[in-house]
Parts: sequence; structure tokens; C-alpha cells
Amino acid sequence: MGCQFSVNSKKVRIFDTTLRDGEQAPGIDLTVEQKVTIARKLAELGVDVIEAGFPAAAEGEFIATKKILEEVGDQVEVIGLSRANKQDIDKTIDTGISSIHVFIATSDIHLKYKLKMTREQVLDKIYESVRYAKDHGLIVEYSPEDATRTDKDFLLKAVSTAIEAGADRINIPDTVGVMHPFKFYDLIKDIVSVTKDKIVSVHCHNDFGLATANSIAGVMAGARQVHVTINGIGERAGNASLEEVVMALKKLLGYEVNIKTYKLYETSRLVSELTGVPVPYFKAIVGENAFGHEAGIHVHGVIENPLTYEPISPEEVGNFRRLALGKHSGIHGLKKLLEEQGIYLDDQELREVLNEIKKLAENGQKVNVDVAKEIAIKVSSKKIKV
Ligand code: KIV
Ligand code: ZN
Repeated sequence: MGCQFSVNSKKVRIFDTTLRDGEQAPGIDLTVEQKVTIARKLAELGVDVIEAGFPAAAEGEFIATKKILEEVGDQVEVIGLSRANKQDIDKTIDTGISSIHVFIATSDIHLKYKLKMTREQVLDKIYESVRYAKDHGLIVEYSPEDATRTDKDFLLKAVSTAIEAGADRINIPDTVGVMHPFKFYDLIKDIVSVTKDKIVSVHCHNDFGLATANSIAGVMAGARQVHVTINGIGERAGNASLEEVVMALKKLLGYEVNIKTYKLYETSRLVSELTGVPVPYFKAIVGENAFGHEAGIHVHGVIENPLTYEPISPEEVGNFRRLALGKHSGIHGLKKLLEEQGIYLDDQELREVLNEIKKLAENGQKVNVDVAKEIAIKVSSKKIKV
């Protein structure tokens, strides 16, 4: 499944880890049914891979992975996370899955304080675990955890070892989000130079707010798969957000993705509702204000031609344009909002209504269309043509 690779191809695979790395975040605990509901939505959205969970970590994860595979396994690749040991791999195989994401850390800090292993021992584990999974007929994606803090020569050795053992894809995680785009670009170029025909993937965390930028840099350097989550949920500051990465790849760089972008907003809201994690108001693409306008100049521009102040259309991502009223409002926006309510005023009446709105807003009052309507009716009740 999707193992041919060419750096010249414009097609980028979307590997969604909302149900694994996303769910790993503190405070997010989804039931099996909720995970299945999200998986169905992700399949509808058009992701290429769903990381359903970590089957060896908990019984619920095992059951959820199995159920997700039953529900959407015929439409999308379903993968399970596994540590680099036989017990974890066996447990993952027991779900019935045919793709596995095997990881073991490679940075000295993880080797010394967490794994208490030598580099040689880690290389042995990589080889044994990848080989074992391949011998069981699985598609294997290998991740050197904390890759971006790993000594470069050792990282390349770890990657080559995984490939020698038969790994189909190599994923490079920026586990604690310490990359910046130029540095990550150089690193992925080096990785791509040793991976030959294998797909290189990137997995970026957002500790410095650079997860999307780093994911894009990874693709520009030759990665052809990105790990992402809906709304960017995930460990600490989260993972690269699917909606941002997808839209940037598509609109800014001309890459091809399978995603039905008009389903992004509804998918974002479903994940927010089931995880209980609100979507930030200013979130790119799916935030409530992503297509919001209040300032008179902006609203006027958008009414004449939305491209004046919107680089993409809200319809393309299933979001909505929201024209707001406040102290920065201008006459054109007010006119449009009132006319949508069937209220037609002349210029002088509009100015009167606008002044009233500005006064209210300056005194801290929220002015919505209903308030504007009331003022307009007061100013001129004769002109209503509903
Ligand atoms: O961030 C990370 O390193 C991970 C690995 C399990 C790939 O999530
Ligand atoms: Zn991660």
C-alpha cells in the first residue's frame, strides 16, 4: 500500500495520527465508539493512513484498533503503533492489522535516561523488530524517536539498518519540536539521500509553533508523507495540524493530496466536540475568525471581491465568512448585513445607524446583527421591505 516513491512526484500522503498522538495528550480519553466515529470521518475526509492507536498500551486501544480496521480498513490504510519488541508487535498483529509503525528512540538523551541501552543495542533492536514484523507480512514504517536530537551519523545508521531489515517507510519525528524549517530541510535532504526508493515521512511537534512550517520544509526536501492531527491536537503544544499542512501544500506549493478539503471544518468540529478541546478562535483554516471581517476597509473589499482579503475561500474548507459589526465597521458592511435582513436604508440613515453602533461598541457592548436591526428599525421603520 503506497510504497512506491519518487521525490519528483507531487503527491503527498496524509498520515493522520489524531487517534494515536492526538489522543495521547493529557485530558483526551476517547471511548472505542468515539474513536470509530472519528475514524469514519477521517476516511470520508480522504486521509491515506489512519494511525488507530497503540494496541499494546491498553485493552481499549487494542479493541479500538480492531474495530477501526473492521469499519474503515477497506477504504484506508489502518496502522498501529508498536515499540520495537516482539510482544508489542504480536499484540498489534492480533488486531488483524497489516501495517505497523515501529519506533525506538535514537538520541543519546533517550538512550541514557529512558532506554538505558547502548547505540549498538538500539541498532540490534531496530533490525530484529523490523525484520520480525516483515517476516509476519506487515507493511512497516519505522520511526527513530527523537530523531532531530540524534547524532546525525548514528541517525543515518539507524535509518539504513531499518531499511536493510526491510522497512517500507521511514518516518522522521521532531519529537520535542526543536527544528526550524531550514535545519529540518537539510536533515530531510540527508535522510532522502540514503533511503532510495522508500517513502520518507515527517512527524513534527509544535513546541515552538513551527510544526506546520517544518512539515512543509520536510516535503520540500523530499518527504512524501506527513504525520498530522486534526486541529493540531497532540502531546504538549500538539502536532502539525492536518488542515494547515494540507492547505499550505496544496495552495502555496501545488502538491497533490487526497483530502476533500470542503470537509475540513466539519471534521475539525467533530474532533473538537468528541475530545472536548475547543478550536482556537484565530486558528488558521478552521477557526471561527479564519474568515471573519469587521474593519470597514476589509469588509468593503471582501464584498467587492473576497480575494482582496481572503487567500482561500471559506467554501473550499467548509468554513464560513463572518462579517461582524463593531467600532471598526464601515458603511458598506452595514448596508450588506442589513439588506440581507430585508432592511434597505438610504445613506444618511445608514450613517445614523453606524454612529449608534460605534457608540455602543466603544462602550464595550457586543453588537450583532439583531442589535443593528433594532437600531435600523428605530431609525427608519418605513423602509422595511420583507
Ligand atoms: O513524537 C514522536 O516521536 C512520536 C513517535 C512515536 C513517532 O510520536
Ligand atoms: Zn509524536
